[in-house]
This record gives sequence, structure tokens and C-alpha cells, in this order.
Amino acid sequence: MKPCRAFMAGLLVFLVFIFPVSFGWGLDGHFTICKIAQSRLSRAAADAVQRLLPEYANGELANVCIWADRIKFRYRWSSALHYVNTPESLCTYQYARDCKDENGVEGRCVAGAINNYTSQLLTYKTRSSSSQYNLTEALLFLSHFMGDIHQPLHVGFAEDKGGNTIEVHWYTRKQNLHHIWDSNIIETAEEKFYDSSVNGLIDAIQMNITKEWTDEVEEWVKCNSKTIACTDIYASESIRAACDWAYKGVTEGATLAAKYFSTRVPVVYLRLAQGGVRLAAVLNSIFG
Ligand SMILES: *[C@@H]1O[C@H](CO)[C@@H](O)[C@H](O)[C@H]1NC(C)=O
Ligand SMILES: *[C@@H]1O[C@H](CO)[C@@H](O)[C@H](O)[C@H]1NC(C)=O
Ligand SMILES: *[C@@H]1O[C@H](CO)[C@@H](O)[C@H](O)[C@H]1NC(C)=O
Ligand SMILES: [Zn+2]
Repeated sequence: MKPCRAFMAGLLVFLVFIFPVSFGWGLDGHFTICKIAQSRLSRAAADAVQRLLPEYANGELANVCIWADRIKFRYRWSSALHYVNTPESLCTYQYARDCKDENGVEGRCVAGAINNYTSQLLTYKTRSSSSQYNLTEALLFLSHFMGDIHQPLHVGFAEDKGGNTIEVHWYTRKQNLHHIWDSNIIETAEEKFYDSSVNGLIDAIQMNITKEWTDEVEEWVKCNSKTIACTDIYASESIRAACDWAYKGVTEGATLAAKYFSTRVPVVYLRLAQGGVRLAAVLNSIFG
């Protein structure tokens, strides 16, 4: 590469990192989910993850959980895999009805992608060295999409693109509703309660996983389907939470502030916890 092109490529990477275009939990949401997940991995799963992680992850899955958002422009085909649209106002999710992309291609949604990358990773154990798939990418996609499917507005309505077209104010700033659920609620919680630190937030969620939610954690990972991940359950919970909390009472141009924050932040904590616990369970069962 000529120096000039190398510089331009470097600049591009830099710009993408400082101006992330976000359509999933933001950086901290994905980081939190993967951090929680990695702390719950079995020996076998932890080993497999270490082998598959790219070098620049420094051994931390959380460091690369946002990867799938960063490469969306390079891998244009992957952008439909971050969400699923459900019919306006029904507040339900059905795989056969809803899981398709804009061109109607079946299985091209976040639930289909989770199944896809789960089955690719199942070839890890029986791996002939010439696996047809790049299992590093499969791991990074799966870890990211397990997060996205737990973000209520990633299972939102097609009409408003999961809240992306609903313009509101977050306190005094203009913002769209989708972004508030990706990032603003988490950031405001960090500023208010955790010294602006994502690690403080993670510790608090981990504490509740072991105390407040111990009885529920077993329920979260129950999965009676034939697939390893229970995407029907995760997506149905998300659209329910989207209707009950994210969309509820929100009109175009509304100002969402302290009251919206304090009533919604527990929902965000719960979804981050469930995303992390379930990602660990799925990886443990893939590599177990
Ligand atoms: C499945 O994974 C392959 C390899 O990354 C990709 O080309 C394909 O689009 C994926 N399909 C879905 C539905 O995730
Ligand atoms: C697998 O994907 C990763 C991430 O995109 C890439 O760095 C690596 O070179 C790929 N490996 C192979 C063998 O293509
Ligand atoms: C932990 O649980 C307590 C008690 O229900 C709750 O007040 C607090 O907001 C929770 N924190 C997190 C991060 O889940
Ligand atoms: Zn995403």
C-alpha cells in the first residue's frame, strides 16, 4: 500500500471509531453484555473463545463485541441481520411471519443470524482445518447479535424503523428514540450512578445477577426448542418491552427526561443482564 493510501485507510478507521453510526446497543451496551458473558464461560468455551478471538481483542471478547457494527459498511449484506421488524401495534413476534429482510428473503434477520452463526460454530469441535466458515467472524457476529436481539427496539415496528424515525429530545438534546435505547439511557445511568464508568455499571449488574435475580437466572437460560439459542423467547420479550416501555407514551417531538429515565433504566439493566447470561449459556452449549 502506498503511504498515502495507508494514511487514508487509517483515517477512515479512525473516523469510523470516533463517529460510530449505531444501530445496536452502543459500545457500552455490547461491552457490558460480552463482559458478563465471558465471566460465565465454562473452561471449554473459554478456551475456544481464546483460540478464535482476533489478536487485537487482547483476550477480551468485550473488546470486539461492537465489531459487527464497525464492518457494516464493508459487509453491506450484514446490515439486515442486526434487527427484526414486527407488524405495527401487534406487539408480538413470529419467526415465520417476521424474520426476513427488505427483499423478503427468509431468515435474514437477527434471529436467523443467531441460528446461522450458532450452527457455524458447532463445526468448531469437528473441525477439519478447512472449515468452510471463518469461525472468528462467526463468534463476533453471534456475540453481537445476542446483544442486539435483547435491545427492545431491535424488535420494533417497521413503520418507524425501530424508533429510528421518532425524533424526540433526551433532556435538552435532539435525539431519536432508537438511539436513546442503544446508548443514552446507559450513558445517563453511568454518569448519575457509576462515576461515568462502564465497569461500575457492569459490577452493579453482576451483583444483581448473583443476588436479586438468582432465582430468575435459571429461567432465562431455559430453552425447550431444538435450537441452542431460544430466539423466539428473546425477540418476543423485546417487542413486549418495546411496547410496554420504549414506545409507551412517546409522541413525536416529546421531551424524555428524568421520569422516562428512572422508569426505563431497570428494563435496560435487565436486558443487558439477560443478554450476557444467555450469550454465555449459548457459547457453553456450543463448545461444551
Ligand atoms: C450466514 O453466514 C454467512 C457467513 O457469514 C453469511 O454469508 C450469510 O449471509 C449469513 N446468513 C444469515 C441469515 O445470517
Ligand atoms: C477471519 O476473519 C477475521 C475478521 O474479519 C480476519 O481478520 C481473518 O483474517 C479471517 N481469517 C481467514 C482465515 O480468512
Ligand atoms: C439492582 O437491584 C436493585 C434492587 O432491585 C435495584 O434498585 C438496582 O437498580 C439494580 N441495579 C442494577 C444495575 O441492576
Ligand atoms: Zn448491531
